[in-house]
Amino acid sequence: MTDAKHTSPRRRRSWAEPYKIKVVEPLKMTTRAEREQAIAAAGYNTFLLRSEDVYIDLLTDSGTAAMSDYQWAGMMLGDEAYAGSKNFYNLEANIQKYYGYRYIVPTHQGRGAENILSQILIKPGDYIPGNMYFTTTRLHQELAGGTFVDVIIDEAHDAQSLHPFKGNIDLQKLTDLIERVGAERIPYISVAGTVNMAGGQPISMANLREVHQLAQTHGIRIILDATRAVENAYFIQQREEDYRNQAIATILHEFCSYTDGCTMSGKKDALVNIGGWLALNDYNLYEEARNLIVIYEGLHTYGGMAGRDMEAMARGIEESVKDDHIRARIGQVEYLGQKLLDWGIPIVVPIGGHAIYLDAKRFLPQIPQEQFPAQRLAAELYVEAGIRAMERGIVSAGRSKETGDNYYPDLELVRLTIPRRVYTQAHMDLTAEAVEEVYYNRDRLRGLKMIYEPKYLRFFQARFELL
Ligand code: F0G
Repeated sequence: MTDAKHTSPRRRRSWAEPYKIKVVEPLKMTTRAEREQAIAAAGYNTFLLRSEDVYIDLLTDSGTAAMSDYQWAGMMLGDEAYAGSKNFYNLEANIQKYYGYRYIVPTHQGRGAENILSQILIKPGDYIPGNMYFTTTRLHQELAGGTFVDVIIDEAHDAQSLHPFKGNIDLQKLTDLIERVGAERIPYISVAGTVNMAGGQPISMANLREVHQLAQTHGIRIILDATRAVENAYFIQQREEDYRNQAIATILHEFCSYTDGCTMSGKKDALVNIGGWLALNDYNLYEEARNLIVIYEGLHTYGGMAGRDMEAMARGIEESVKDDHIRARIGQVEYLGQKLLDWGIPIVVPIGGHAIYLDAKRFLPQIPQEQFPAQRLAAELYVEAGIRAMERGIVSAGRSKETGDNYYPDLELVRLTIPRRVYTQAHMDLTAEAVEEVYYNRDRLRGLKMIYEPKYLRFFQARFELL
């Protein structure tokens, strides 16, 4: 080499994938006319589209990951005994090792764990503070007779605030609640690692440590929603000075140590298509969980999962905490988000861990919130390029349990959720270009009218008409 440029050492900056592709799944291409018909037939709800009519599926990062050859090999080692499967013990050992909790019961997915936890801990009239709600989590808390109270910092409700830890809990709001209702009415504090509804925003280690101290003085438990806690650990490593040189696995372990248990949807961080768990440090609670699990999920050593699925999740956990994996995973999300930011498209900032959130209030200011701007935008993206996104605004927020009135959330968002290890950089480029095209033509879009509203979690099955 004679060129000096080529001899100087260069720091690696790319997030390029630490894997290569071994199996592919062909995608169907559709015409615009076909897509217009498909979305009308789906009542302008992307949940009601057939997946084969979708080109790039960014509906969710839940259960949509590509498994590794190591995980697939584990599937062949499924021990499908009714009781005491060896895969359960592998799973239990890895949760204990990486998350640090003592007792584990597997569940079919995250909401299975939320159901059991809510039934064990919540009594009618209780209050459950949390760093913003998640749909299924809050519903299980309410079905058990509790009332969810949002104690996240105000910045989380502001799509443009650049706070590095928008998932943080506001200690004053938490203290006020404890003083108002009394610690004995608060069975636990519900803490999510990267807050989905806030845009995949992390909570800092410093904040969780403070919440832990406050909870200790009042004798209140903390239960973590660990669904995306590994992604949270990555942001701690990147943004919190003391953790710059710590491994993701070390950070995750410390993070969980400030909590008394967790519910988990393995379909996200843990790189599997199905599965979850409930973890607890208190033996008596664990015993109650084991009693309920046989009613709602299955025996306590399979909890609704096949042996092979438990093995895939045990192995997925190992892969999920590797620094190279998580850097590439979040690097891909940042790649898409940065492109949109460069083109002046309104998204939630900072860019979150698992998704890009289009800010529908700024994208479609002509559509009032009661005409579902985010729902409309998600439908339009599908028509434009066969990209499937998800509404996270007024439809997802639902109605108040007391008054029956619609919630009007500050955040009216469309989530472009990136599955793990599934799509390429070219798919991200195409997605960005499609969003830009819709943005260019945004003035001609009108709102929607809801013509069918299910009672629970209405966003899944609601139907709409164009206004
Ligand atoms: N907690 C969080 C933060 C979640 O994002 C989810 C699921 C759950 C709990 C429930 O887990 O689906 O396994 O029962 N989120 C999916 C999503 C559905 O698309 O964000 P589950």
